[in-house]
Amino acid sequence: MAKVIYPGTFDPVTNGHIDIVSRAVALFDEVIVTVARNPGKTSLFTVEERVEMLKESLKDYKRVVVDSFDGLVVNHAKQVGAVGIIRGLRAISDFEYEFQMALMNRKLAGEITTILLMPHARYTYLNSTIVRNLAQFQGDVSEFVPKIVVEKLKIKFGKNKE
Ligand code: COA
Repeated sequence: MAKVIYPGTFDPVTNGHIDIVSRAVALFDEVIVTVARNPGKTSLFTVEERVEMLKESLKDYKRVVVDSFDGLVVNHAKQVGAVGIIRGLRAISDFEYEFQMALMNRKLAGEITTILLMPHARYTYLNSTIVRNLAQFQGDVSEFVPKIVVEKLKIKFGKNKE
């Protein structure tokens, strides 16, 4: 059984991330979507909130598990018995960073393979920072993120009374 992990910050999960998960599910038996606990970024949502939003957004995918991890991504991959690490590649600008990370992870654990998947072209310009900015200034994010994230962003930015 081929199991892979899909690590990220997911602050919050976007439709671009969901697109990557749907492609990974078509290729592997189990996909563990895993939230990094200490990526050195200050986050809008807590790890628990990010896990909850991912679980709700991915509840229809029977072979997807959501969890979180501390420390090195390759150690988590080994712990859960994953053969690979899924990452999304949206544009050439993502490539250098992903390439560096993949080579470092290979050096750390040669048996874990990085698999880069490209989301649909409509998501190439999308990232979590843009979504957070848009929501903060009352922009409509419903086209870019799952329903639960739209709701949670409204609560975060004080629009739940509408
Ligand atoms: N669609 C939309 N957006 C996407 C996307 C997709 N398919 N794929 C990535 N993104 C966006 C994210 O939303 C995020 O946007 P933001 O920076 O505006 O918030 C950005 O791309 C970065 O993506 P993310 O997946 O969160 O990566 P990251 O650079 O924060 O790295 C880890 C997260 C977990 C992979 C990394 O921090 C890590 O491996 N940490 C553990 C330590 C370790 O093992 N390091 C490796 C050894 S070098």
